Amino acid sequence: MDETKIFLDENEMPKKWYNINADLPKPLAPPLHPLTLKPMGPQDLTPLFPMEIIKQEVSTEKYINIPDEVRNILTLWRPSPLYRAKRLEKALKTKARIYYKWEGVSPPGSHKPNTAVAQAYYNMKEGTERISTETGAGQWGSSLAFACKLFEIECMVYMVACSYLGKPYRRIMMETWGAKVTSSPSKLTEAGKAILKKDPDCPGSLGIAISEAVEDAIKHENTHYSLGSVLNHVALHQTIIGQEAKIQLKKAGEEKADIIIGCTGGGSNFSGLAFPFIQDKLKGDNKELRAIGVEPMACPTLTKGVYAYDFGDTAKMAPAVKMYTLGHDFIPGAIHAGGLRYHGMSPQVSLLVNEKIVEAQAYYQKEVFEAAKLFAETEGFLVAPESAHAIKAVIEEAKKCKEEKVIVFNNSGHGHFDLGAYDQFLRGKLVDFEYPAELVKQSLAKLPKV
Ligand SMILES: Cc1ncc(COP(=O)(O)O)c(C=O)c1O
Repeated sequence: MDETKIFLDENEMPKKWYNINADLPKPLAPPLHPLTLKPMGPQDLTPLFPMEIIKQEVSTEKYINIPDEVRNILTLWRPSPLYRAKRLEKALKTKARIYYKWEGVSPPGSHKPNTAVAQAYYNMKEGTERISTETGAGQWGSSLAFACKLFEIECMVYMVACSYLGKPYRRIMMETWGAKVTSSPSKLTEAGKAILKKDPDCPGSLGIAISEAVEDAIKHENTHYSLGSVLNHVALHQTIIGQEAKIQLKKAGEEKADIIIGCTGGGSNFSGLAFPFIQDKLKGDNKELRAIGVEPMACPTLTKGVYAYDFGDTAKMAPAVKMYTLGHDFIPGAIHAGGLRYHGMSPQVSLLVNEKIVEAQAYYQKEVFEAAKLFAETEGFLVAPESAHAIKAVIEEAKKCKEEKVIVFNNSGHGHFDLGAYDQFLRGKLVDFEYPAELVKQSLAKLPKV
């Protein structure tokens, strides 16, 4: 009961991914073609993804085998440890028992390579020579750069301008793994050039970087596109986190979790931890379970957005999906949690929020950094600004606990390349971005009419 870290042996690592599409209370609305706004078939996705990924995207099979070659690479850092945050509990004087899955142990430092390795593998199998992608804070770009190197695939990364400037070490990491990195909006694509023409100082957004990476994949020979979040196959690959956590909780002597928490950018780390637990809730085995997605007040997709069809990117080149959205051309304030600056959200997470199975909370970045500092002072780790959003919610929930509860959160990555942000916070220079209600209103007026 009292252990700090609960480990699993490599042979206890799950052999299958869990697909929540098999258990959703309603089927997902079909993705629509960006030009015709008509439902898309698997064939429409072939310019972007390998066939095996497309099959996973539309699959309703409950479990999908993890290829041995992928499992073998994952053992470089998996199974990841489950920690009991005893020192944080003590500081909060809470009755809650707080556990966290520590995904910062991967070579790039976050949960993102769990899907990057799988995606690069399926591309390699189908002969892809080059992959383009976007990255916010650089965690996803570095994960894909790492995975592409392992399979000798070229990697092209469009990095959101404000992070490109603020996080040069992430760029260097990507380049060390052989990737080519450009600031987005860039002059390499029509989508980037159009934005730069309107605003040469545009801080960029994930929506713009996705447009650039999609355009790149469509225009280049033997190039596919890869997305680090939002889509069903990405959440699928991340479910290894929650499946491991369930075994580890049992080993720690816990019968069940009461509250599951993860930050939500596009939804992948939250889904990865939460879906295997929500599976039990949907079966009726843990009906009281609360699952909470946590987002920034500067980009509050789930708490202030609308549930509607919208494009996945700014230039309307990516499919339109039904999701919570702030509008595809909304550009959030340049908060340090770059991975949470996305206008949309995973359709699966969106459906679960709309069905009131998942809750959402939003916080300002200063209070989030205060939470990160308390975590560093008690548990030692300096976490990514994205993950710190989850910690803020954990602290709030733990303080409210009147009785013993088990809280599990996804500590999605380390913040060793985010020290500039910590520095600003420590020097009192960090600013909060108010929720830009007027901008969102304008941007929501441009939703596709479906
Ligand atoms: C460490 C970390 N956590 C969380 C996120 C948010 O993404 P997602 O919602 O897909 O997990 C990111 C995205 O870049 C990240 O780098």
